[in-house]
Amino acid sequence: MSISAIIAAAGSGERFGAGIPKALIQLADRTLVQHAVSSLAPVVDQIIITAPAGFEAQISELVGEGIIVVTGGATRSASVRNALAVATGEYVLVHDAARALASTDVASRVIAQLKNGAVAVVPAIDVVDTIKVVSKEGFVVSTPDRASLVSIQTPQGFNTSALREAHASQNEATDDAGLIEANGGAVKVIAGEERALKITTPADLNTALSFLSLGSDIRTGIGTDAHAFGVGLPLWLAGLHWPGEEGVEGHSDGDVAAHAICDALFSATQLGDLGSNFGTDRPEYAGASGVRLMQETYSMVTKAGFAISNVAVQIIGNRPKIAQRRAEAIAAISDALGGAKISVSATTTDGMGLTGQGKGIAAIATALVYKQ
Ligand code: CTP
Ligand code: MG
Repeated sequence: MSISAIIAAAGSGERFGAGIPKALIQLADRTLVQHAVSSLAPVVDQIIITAPAGFEAQISELVGEGIIVVTGGATRSASVRNALAVATGEYVLVHDAARALASTDVASRVIAQLKNGAVAVVPAIDVVDTIKVVSKEGFVVSTPDRASLVSIQTPQGFNTSALREAHASQNEATDDAGLIEANGGAVKVIAGEERALKITTPADLNTALSFLSLGSDIRTGIGTDAHAFGVGLPLWLAGLHWPGEEGVEGHSDGDVAAHAICDALFSATQLGDLGSNFGTDRPEYAGASGVRLMQETYSMVTKAGFAISNVAVQIIGNRPKIAQRRAEAIAAISDALGGAKISVSATTTDGMGLTGQGKGIAAIATALVYKQ
């Protein structure tokens, strides 16, 4: 029994006011539409996204192959109809990209009800405010009993042919269940979740962030390394070979920037340090390059359940001059660390100390990681 998912993402995000479609707004490590895809992908067989006209290619590139992108319509209902036309599932979930953080769990509970025979299923949460019906003139008309009121969320689930029928006979509603109701169909209500809030204004982004683990378990770490120049050695620094520059003595290829970065990552994740992980009692790492050590560190950090927010490294020494190869160094380090955000800076020390006297090179690194 196959399941399609429609992600409504064709709105312009007027109230958010970012000047770009709301679905393309960044929340932590990805855009709202990418969050929505990630939570539905594990439980559906087909995903169709409605894109604002002109943004089809951009959204398609963001979400990758295998996901259908159609152009949205003038209203949400019109957008959903465009997607419904290509849905192949027996059941269909209709979800708002704006509810980016709705979980896979709520989607599976909706699907479970559909498999149980429900024609339409909606997640809901209790309302906390007293709700009043107000006239155009600005006077209260009535106060419905709050106990019978709920706030409706998405993903909403439907028997696909029932939703097609409802869309064919009714034109507009602010949600799809509304069309089923107007057709006299029964809509089953299940428990929704706070994290499925609809991101409408910039303030909602902060609330959404607090639901990501990113908001709760962030850790920082520091690492330092220094080596003296040695005659006739090649220089390896920040994952790069520096032809014509004198190299440094030291463990492996003597890449002080790479070693400081590994130490910063071990420090942030409480996994020990360079010595305890790659030291003399681990002969398999003898002579390993800085790049290889960063790759190994990245794999250990990932296995321990951490993601890297960013890594910054500062190289201290009179030479080499880092600026002209900064972009290359950033790319080399980022490649070794799974595409992490990297910055590389450099400084001299006004003629003082080992590095200032031109006797060697040092590096200091910091890493910010978060538990996933
Ligand atoms: N949507 C859509 N097609 C439209 C209008 C809205 O697919 N013609 C989608 C939005 O992208 C959003 C969801 O429906 O994911 C709910 O709409 P809303 O939160 O109102 O988003 P926007 O319409 O983008 O925001 P605004 O009303 O502030 O412009
Ligand atoms: Mg809207």
